[in-house]
Amino acid sequence: MKSIKEIDIAGKTVLVRVDFNVPLDEHKNITDDIRIRSVLPTLKYILEQKAKLVIASHMGRPKGRVDDRFSLKPVAIRLEELMGKEVALAPDCVGEGVKKMVSALKNEDVLLLENLRFHKKEQENDKEFGKSLSELCDIYVNDAFAVSHRKNASVHAVAEFVKVKCAGLLLLKELCYFDKAMTAPVRPLVAIVGGAKVSSKLCALENMLDNVDKLIIGGAMANTFLKALGHDMGRSKIEEELIDKAYNIIQDGRQKNIKLYLPVDVVAASKIDIAADIKTVTVQEIPPEWMALDVGPATSLLFAEALNDAGTIIWNGPLGIFEMEPFSRGTMSMADSVANSSALTIVGGGDTDMAIHKSGKADKVTYISTGGGAFLSLLEGEKLPGVEVL
Ligand code: 3PG
Repeated sequence: MKSIKEIDIAGKTVLVRVDFNVPLDEHKNITDDIRIRSVLPTLKYILEQKAKLVIASHMGRPKGRVDDRFSLKPVAIRLEELMGKEVALAPDCVGEGVKKMVSALKNEDVLLLENLRFHKKEQENDKEFGKSLSELCDIYVNDAFAVSHRKNASVHAVAEFVKVKCAGLLLLKELCYFDKAMTAPVRPLVAIVGGAKVSSKLCALENMLDNVDKLIIGGAMANTFLKALGHDMGRSKIEEELIDKAYNIIQDGRQKNIKLYLPVDVVAASKIDIAADIKTVTVQEIPPEWMALDVGPATSLLFAEALNDAGTIIWNGPLGIFEMEPFSRGTMSMADSVANSSALTIVGGGDTDMAIHKSGKADKVTYISTGGGAFLSLLEGEKLPGVEVL
């Protein structure tokens, strides 16, 4: 896979696939522009090389229909501010009109194509659609790590038709940090896995057993593991059908000499409501009608201790319902521990990203991935189709 820096792009038309799938509020204000900021080095580099820049992205899930709610208009405005230069927004991403706009570009001009997912063919990885995109450029760059786990036409099919293709600087950075953490880590390598469901992280957990030295499990998914160990979890969220799998992971971890950490106490409540009765109890004493909604303070101490000697930490998934103040302390405390660690620290996944920002400690983490699903795919040991085709 070539880096954009290894290719002569001067004067050429460069199509960059980025992931500008950013959150918007009800007034279409961008509430987090990190995905835009993260690709600025690539975009600026292309302009410095005096090339013509065409940018393609998806936004949301408009189901293959034009839908103004998912237009990239707000992104064009923000990009213009961040780049300090005019960014034209095309009315579509393929077709004669767009082709004309592209051929009218001069060196250092910027054209943002409208949402790729306004076309059903994008997510069908349609060859013709990929070909149409390829006809817009001399050089194709994938800098959309966060969508590279999807076999979509703009990250996969397109690559078959372009003469020159390469990776953008963000994609390379993401893969490099992941590699540092999982392929050649400074040990001990500690993985912290949280979130709501074992089912969504099962493959990642199984894959990580071959690599990590310590595995910390929190969030609602820990309930299924605690249940597998015989704890009565009251009305806590449990994935009954995965209790055996959870038990196998525990056993497998033991055989592989991995130190596994589970909550020893939890913040429990009678319902998911900040006004509910709330108390901290050991996992042995969860009242029958109550549910575990966060890890408790003893657990936070235990987890912090487990991180003390870490050489590398990788964190995916919050440890409780951190959006609600009474159930946020476990996650915030973990954010503190990760931020204060001298290890290489890598955080990935939308919720974890949100949590680390909420804690105010984001700048103390070595690297925060821009990918949610893509990051998880890597943890699962999967190859990313968007990377494979490069
Ligand atoms: C993401 O937000 O994880 C990426 O933009 C991919 O979006 P998708 O899950 O809708 O494919």
